[in-house]
Amino acid sequence: MPDKVVLAYSGGLDTSVAIRWLQEKYNLEVIAVTVDVGNERDFSLVQQKACNAGATKALVQDAKKAFVDHFIFPALKADALYEGHYPLATALSRPLIAQILVDVARAEKATAVAHGCTGKGNDQVRIEVSVNALAPDLKVIAPAREWDMTREESISYAQRFNIPVPTTVDSPYSIDENLWGRSIECGVLEDPWVEPPEDVFTLTKSPAKTPDKPSYVEIGFEQGVPVTIDGKKMDGVSLIQRLSKLAGGHGVGRVDHLENRLVGIKSREIYEAPAATVLLQTHQALEAITLSKEQLRFKQKVATEYADLIYNGLWFSSLHRDLAAYVKSSQRYVSGAVRLKLFKGSSAVVGRKSPFSLYRHSLATYDKGDEFDRKAAPGFIQIWGLPVRTQAEIQPTKLVEED
Ligand code: ARG
Repeated sequence: MPDKVVLAYSGGLDTSVAIRWLQEKYNLEVIAVTVDVGNERDFSLVQQKACNAGATKALVQDAKKAFVDHFIFPALKADALYEGHYPLATALSRPLIAQILVDVARAEKATAVAHGCTGKGNDQVRIEVSVNALAPDLKVIAPAREWDMTREESISYAQRFNIPVPTTVDSPYSIDENLWGRSIECGVLEDPWVEPPEDVFTLTKSPAKTPDKPSYVEIGFEQGVPVTIDGKKMDGVSLIQRLSKLAGGHGVGRVDHLENRLVGIKSREIYEAPAATVLLQTHQALEAITLSKEQLRFKQKVATEYADLIYNGLWFSSLHRDLAAYVKSSQRYVSGAVRLKLFKGSSAVVGRKSPFSLYRHSLATYDKGDEFDRKAAPGFIQIWGLPVRTQAEIQPTKLVEED
């Protein structure tokens, strides 16, 4: 009896070829697992393909709820946005896929897991670091990194073994999609001077073709988690899907990012992330009214660290655990609602409210009802400016420093 390997199977050319290749090269029995993280597809067709390519079992796992509850929402609470642009859709899905590979490997008594990543990207790092952390005894095989075949060679390999070549093979783009967004690479996009052609986008309308009237939407949060749209309670998956349609319909959520990969390469990445864009924006708007200045400043630093560790494949690290605990604690009073205006490719926060709002009209107003104690201002300035005054007396200062 050959040993078993559990392969993360997408239904694409590479992972289809990998099924056969793992049998030929390592004499392994292949169990294909496809993880549904909201990449709308016909999963029964994917299952069929895996079996046709020679898998002894083809499993599909609906992981949408787990993805939202344990990956997307914690990242949203942290305001995680890699290099200020990328909401981390692909990066967040990899540790979950790794976890499922490990679970299935245990259930099936497999000795190895495999994935279809190449040797140039971040995903190989994320999956392997995660599998190693969860199950150090499992072997990890990366066929597409090992076999060194060009796309043409993979196609002829597929044909030789009667593996159906997916019809999408003539698409010039490499795409990854889930609930939190979609990434598009390759083809003309590899020239950072070239504007992305309209045909790369599927989740967002061209702003030239969006409605001539704005839409308003009110998003309600409880402790940093979005729970309502226009006052109606929704589960996380449906809420994200709904916002994706709504914001995408107004052309909101397109990102053109000149990105720094973990493996040292600069790459040009196009993303569409309508739901992530508006949720990050509204979440931050609510934090602005419920957190103190110091909490906000510190949280920005945490957000950068948090985004980096997700991007860099360190989901199962202790640092993540510690930061997540901080982030969760920071959300105690991040409850309330934010009103958003969507129009011609832009989204703008136009209102925010919270039962825990730190905004006091009586302190901010210039109208009547002002309760700010102006008489205390001179004393405050006296003490605030004390070190500056002292230093200026002893070490005379100038407006413009001369050489
Ligand atoms: N650059 C993004 C990231 O590293 C997107 C990667 C897309 N992955 C893929 N296999 N197409 O997260």
